[in-house]
Amino acid sequence: MAIQLDNITYTYGVGTPFEKQALKGISLTIENGEFLGIIGHTGSGKSTFVQHLNGLLHPTTGAVIVNGVDVSEKTDEAKRMRHKVGMVFQYPEHQLFEETIAQDIAFGPKNLGVDEEDVDRRVREAMQFVGLDYDTYADRSPFHLSGGQMRRVAIAGVVAMEPDFLVLDEPSAGLDPFGREEIFEEIIKLHKEKGITVILVSHNMEDISRMASRLIVLDKGQVVLDGKPLEIFNNHRHILQQLGVDVPPVSVLVESLRHRGLPISNEVLTVDDAVQAIIEGGCHVK
Ligand SMILES: Nc1ncnc2c1ncn2[C@@H]1O[C@H](COP(=O)(O)OP(=O)(O)OP(=O)(O)O)[C@@H](O)[C@H]1O
Ligand SMILES: [Mg+2]
Repeated sequence: MAIQLDNITYTYGVGTPFEKQALKGISLTIENGEFLGIIGHTGSGKSTFVQHLNGLLHPTTGAVIVNGVDVSEKTDEAKRMRHKVGMVFQYPEHQLFEETIAQDIAFGPKNLGVDEEDVDRRVREAMQFVGLDYDTYADRSPFHLSGGQMRRVAIAGVVAMEPDFLVLDEPSAGLDPFGREEIFEEIIKLHKEKGITVILVSHNMEDISRMASRLIVLDKGQVVLDGKPLEIFNNHRHILQQLGVDVPPVSVLVESLRHRGLPISNEVLTVDDAVQAIIEGGCHVK
């Protein structure tokens, strides 16, 4: 199972004075089981790109193939494949609209034509999965929850669709560090325990670098870098800086310590890695 993008371009407002080519010939394959991070300066095309993955936008030219099926087609099979790709938007709580949390989570699977018993099972499982106790929360309004909890409900709604791929566009935007951590724990769990392929857009380099197994960097609608986070942050820092993309602060720190002659491995992406590398490098804090 994979998502294959075959030389896609996308132009907004074709034939109008506002015509804007947002994607310019992107070809890549997202393999089953990957955790793909997408970064790039504002306006580089990240949201436009991810909206192609479940057929919300159709490419102006080129094709998006999910599990071997072109998702732009009007067949039932193409529709089924589009549903394999769950999407969580930047402010997912804006997608909540039902009276109760359980109804909200049930909306997606009901729409897929799943029978009532199975919908109920999926709602219970999805709530348990995101850490919302069914008996406590099922009949409550989703609008009286904290920001982090609302996002968990939104994620549970996507989980209940039982997707193979999960796309998240800035899922932690506007949350405090605690809410952010809550969301990322859910995402990591979905990837590890359910084996869902994750595609995550984020401005937060620390989050991306600690989770993603692969990173692509977009600039002006093109993929300019594609590789492992460590490799990109270590070897292409100057390109990222030119593109106005941050690098994780911890990798800057480690680089500057190395510059000063401290024998630290540069295999460092997280604060925990850095602590370990500093200890192993023999730099003991007194
Ligand atoms: N509905 C639209 N109509 C016209 N142009 C658009 C539309 N949406 C986006 N664009 C343009 O397409 C380009 C890519 O936008 P997109 O939203 O995909 O970027 P992004 O990388 O997600 O940015 P951000 O980091 O700010 O979310 C930008 O130049 C943007 O101005
Ligand atoms: Mg965006």
